Amino acid sequence: MIPNGTLTLSADPAGIAQAADLLRQGLLVAFPTETVYGLGGDARNGEAVAGIYAAKGRPSFNPLIAHVASVEAAQRFVMWSDQAEALAAAFWPGPLTLVLPLRPGHGMSSLVTAGLETLAVRVPAHPAARVLLSEFDGPVAAPSANPSGQISPTTAAHVLSGLNGRIAAVLDDGPCGVGLESTIVGLAGEPTLLRPGGVALEQIEAVLKTQLHHHLPGDVLNAPGQLQSHYAPDAPVRLNASAAQGDEVLLGFGPVDCDLNLSAKGNLTEAAANLFAALHSLNDTGRPIAVTSIPSHGLGAAINDRLRRAAAPRNS
Ligand code: TXA
Ligand code: MG
Repeated sequence: MIPNGTLTLSADPAGIAQAADLLRQGLLVAFPTETVYGLGGDARNGEAVAGIYAAKGRPSFNPLIAHVASVEAAQRFVMWSDQAEALAAAFWPGPLTLVLPLRPGHGMSSLVTAGLETLAVRVPAHPAARVLLSEFDGPVAAPSANPSGQISPTTAAHVLSGLNGRIAAVLDDGPCGVGLESTIVGLAGEPTLLRPGGVALEQIEAVLKTQLHHHLPGDVLNAPGQLQSHYAPDAPVRLNASAAQGDEVLLGFGPVDCDLNLSAKGNLTEAAANLFAALHSLNDTGRPIAVTSIPSHGLGAAINDRLRRAAAPRNS
């Protein structure tokens, strides 16, 4: 436990400088990205990275994303390729993570990659994250800042509700704009979608001018973190509901009668931004959750992926 509890820092120059300083000391700082809040630690410092796993209670076979300030910074750690260049040019900074072969002499803690020969890297777009990464001037390993298996955080309050007293600080810059984690594309072999997320598959395929392979459901080697039950509220979640039954609260999409609507006008981008906050607040009701059906094109693919995991039988 952190003796005086977790500090809340504001995302002004002084707060960001303090956050960078805490990272340099090997301490853990949650910070906003455009997708979700990340739980950051120095990716070259084994103790800091071990601390991330411990704070989250995360299974240690699950590797982490290294966040860096620029394409040039990413190239220090991974073997670059034409496909990486094309995707980085189109979507970085932004909600896309690339998995590439590690470069010799990369200096990452092996806990970041969980012993794999590849590294997941991302240049986030959030202004406070960008300033933090350039001030820190090194790779920051950061999973979503929630206890393992629980709902991802899109506000500093969500972070504190799960991790207060377990991390040094949270840098608070309000709600995240995209609201869903990054899309993860594997480029170590044939281009493969490892996790749907904040950049739609259709956009990625348009840039690469090829279709992505999809990792097989349950293929834990491809996307080691994609445990089936994840993003899970305490109460059961029922999908494709047409109405609430019994005690359920109904989460809706589009013009439906419900307790909470992800986007009354049926906009998938708005629904993605609202998804985790909606699950957090329905979870707080203590009642079972039913969700109406959501289209599966564009960001709908990532929304439905998260909802399926929230509804899956729990790991333990
Ligand atoms: O938007 C995001 O990606 C957020 C923010 C904080 O950047 N981060 C995030 O991290 O979602 P996390 O740890 O919750 O999810 C990272 C995913 C996991 O499923 C992990 O298994 C996968 O990335 N991953 C990491 N390194 C990998 C690798 N070398 N090969 C395949 N998958 C990898
Ligand atoms: Mg996560």
